[in-house]
Amino acid sequence: MNAINIMDTVTIQRGVIADPRPLIAEIASLGSRFAIITHPSLAALYGKTLQNSMVSSHLDTILLTFPEGEIHKTRANKEMLEDRLLESGYGRDSCIIALGGGVVSDLAGYLAATYCRGVPYVIIPTSLLGMVDAAIGGKTGVNTPYGKNMIGAVCQPKKIWIDSNLLQTLSPQEMRNGIVEIIKHGLIQDQALFDYLDTHSQQIMARDPKTLEHVIYNSCMIKMKIVQEDEKETGKRRLLNFGHTIGHALERLHEFTVPHGEAVAIGLAVESYIATLLKTLDFSAHEQIIQILKRYQLPLRLKRAFPLEKILDAMMMDKKSLKGQPRFVMIDAIGSACPFHGAYCTPVDPAVIKQGLEWMNHVMCRH
Ligand SMILES: NC(=O)c1ccc[n+]([C@@H]2O[C@H](COP(=O)([O-])OP(=O)(O)OC[C@H]3O[C@@H](n4cnc5c(N)ncnc54)[C@H](O)[C@@H]3O)[C@@H](O)[C@H]2O)c1
Repeated sequence: MNAINIMDTVTIQRGVIADPRPLIAEIASLGSRFAIITHPSLAALYGKTLQNSMVSSHLDTILLTFPEGEIHKTRANKEMLEDRLLESGYGRDSCIIALGGGVVSDLAGYLAATYCRGVPYVIIPTSLLGMVDAAIGGKTGVNTPYGKNMIGAVCQPKKIWIDSNLLQTLSPQEMRNGIVEIIKHGLIQDQALFDYLDTHSQQIMARDPKTLEHVIYNSCMIKMKIVQEDEKETGKRRLLNFGHTIGHALERLHEFTVPHGEAVAIGLAVESYIATLLKTLDFSAHEQIIQILKRYQLPLRLKRAFPLEKILDAMMMDKKSLKGQPRFVMIDAIGSACPFHGAYCTPVDPAVIKQGLEWMNHVMCRH
């Protein structure tokens, strides 16, 4: 398969882990010593193969791991990996290769941003969410007991290499987490992508590589263009938060026991319902959104109803909140988000939010 290149940073090439010669040729000049950072399971699936190929190509390469899961995206693990690099004598000529989902790219990217005051890094995303979201845009960081992603840096990777073959080993739940973000990209920016997702759900669920590459390419383009306009999230980048004001609140209320994608899927459904209450979106578009989420087997179901005040309180923690009021990204059609004079999000009358949340509690709480 020919490689697809996006803005000189992202290359989509199937089979690049099995035969990484094009990848190696591109990254060889980024450092004289390389460290692949990944999880133990991904090291066994892909990391060891990549390390062997790099060593065979005379690139000095070590493989470092930390445990998988959001709870391991910590300062302690960053420090542990930094110590491993320092013990191995890695200096300013090092290059970090993040091989994994968003947990790996966030932590390894942050490590690269600060190691020896900054070394280059490359991302090989292995999850769908990693490919279309976490790898793009340069946000890196770790979690703290006080909140997620509280410590970090904006630091762009030198290169991102996407191999859709890696998705063959991803769990269905992790596939859905990625699909929700792609649906969101379609909703805020690209009706053609939304329609394609609507008509190709079977191929995508069956992980047909060509179909996946089409949606990965278009999704990456959307995020890259938005980030190019607003790297530090002072305006347009907020669009990427569509569905997340409510999605994040639900994750918090469930103490992070619901998958991110399922919470954001409910967020997309409720926030677009709020748009219909405000008459910015028509009901038929809202119905299409519900249908596509169901087509991708997103449960759209809450474990239990939450008191409205509790949900509102949880929404207040959202980073878009201003002066104690939650703010929402709004769409006025599928593929079209409202700019709100460059703020790209808006406060909503609390009575309307409550109406939206009542709808959520009523419709999505079937036991
Ligand atoms: N930096 C950003 O802009 C940005 C954007 C969105 C999300 N994020 C972050 O990304 C993280 C979520 O990323 P994620 O959804 O990729 O989760 P993840 O990195 O935890 O990966 C999910 C699970 O899938 C496994 N996995 C990954 N690729 C696999 C493969 N090919 N085969 C088998 N198993 C595989 C992982 O080991 C892990 O257990 C969160 O920490 C979130 O904060 C960052």
